[in-house]
Amino acid sequence: MTRERIEAGLPAAFEGFPESSAMGHGYYRGKVRDVVLGKDSLLLVASDRISAFDRVIGTVPFKGEILSRLASFWFAKTADIVANHHIAGPGEFPGTGRACLARRARMLPLEVVVRGFLTGSAWRDYSANRPVSGIRLPEGLCQNEKFPVPILTPSTKEASGHDRAISREEILAEGLLEKGTWEEIERISLALFRRGQEIASSVGLLLVDTKYEFGIVDGKLCLCDEIHTPDSSRWWWSDSYQARFAAGEAQKELDKEPFRRWLAQRGVTGQGEPPSIPAEIRIETAQRYVQAFETLTGEFFVSLSGDPQAELAVLERIVAERLR
Ligand SMILES: Nc1ncnc2c1ncn2[C@@H]1O[C@H](COP(=O)(O)OP(=O)(O)O)[C@@H](O)[C@H]1O
Ligand SMILES: [Mg+2]
Repeated sequence: MTRERIEAGLPAAFEGFPESSAMGHGYYRGKVRDVVLGKDSLLLVASDRISAFDRVIGTVPFKGEILSRLASFWFAKTADIVANHHIAGPGEFPGTGRACLARRARMLPLEVVVRGFLTGSAWRDYSANRPVSGIRLPEGLCQNEKFPVPILTPSTKEASGHDRAISREEILAEGLLEKGTWEEIERISLALFRRGQEIASSVGLLLVDTKYEFGIVDGKLCLCDEIHTPDSSRWWWSDSYQARFAAGEAQKELDKEPFRRWLAQRGVTGQGEPPSIPAEIRIETAQRYVQAFETLTGEFFVSLSGDPQAELAVLERIVAERLR
């Protein structure tokens, strides 16, 4: 997709699916996605909102569509590993690329984070001598070092406030899950992560870490929410990994670099009113999301969404006709 196309998309960024369009169904507005709840299914609408420090601070054109289309790409690529909630999504709804109709699950109260590298919050814990979700890692590891095998660092999904890191032992001791269920989740999460790493490496990327959410549908474990999207995962370019690691430099990130750089330059910390994102940063960030989509799927990105008004009408029709 050309820069001109992206620039033209700026005013048409999709702010969100409003509660007033949910036609009396249950409704939940997440930071990025809006959810309309049926009895057995739900519609996940990925908006173009972008968040930092747990707050929405603006929109990036095409971001929601790319998120939604990457999730459905990965659901298809991993369906042999575990059942997932996807019923219908981008490509099946003319006029919108940002909606996923999914089976409604009883969600398990956990976010399952899988990490292939020592970075982010795991590095912060490790370098402060704290265990990482109950795991005592060996001494002498460096920032961004690859683990011999990926590790699982679950956290609880708290109704309010921040998620809490939790160990495998605590999950079982607190009776959050039964042992058999947890072991199945461990096995499946590692298999999903391995599949993600394999596909990523075939296109020159490293899947660094990611988060899975599971639920129960018809008594069986079901992969829900999103999978291997830029919002739930971190990706680095593999060609520069070794040299940067050896030199102790930051890794080259796939997607959010321009946005993060701008946040840092502006000194945005999460305190006070966030500044509005300049057009140039929105464009550059959108370009990275498009690049992420094209690199991972091997397809050119052509938007399936129309202008926000027309798209909203399409989404309302899906709610009316397809949500059960
Ligand atoms: N198949 C599903 N059934 C029920 N709930 C789901 C399903 N898939 C995702 N969810 C939930 O929908 C919500 C999506 O919101 P999200 O955009 O992630 O916002 P946030 O994470 O900020 O709450 C999450 O609470 C997620 O756990
Ligand atoms: Mg979420």
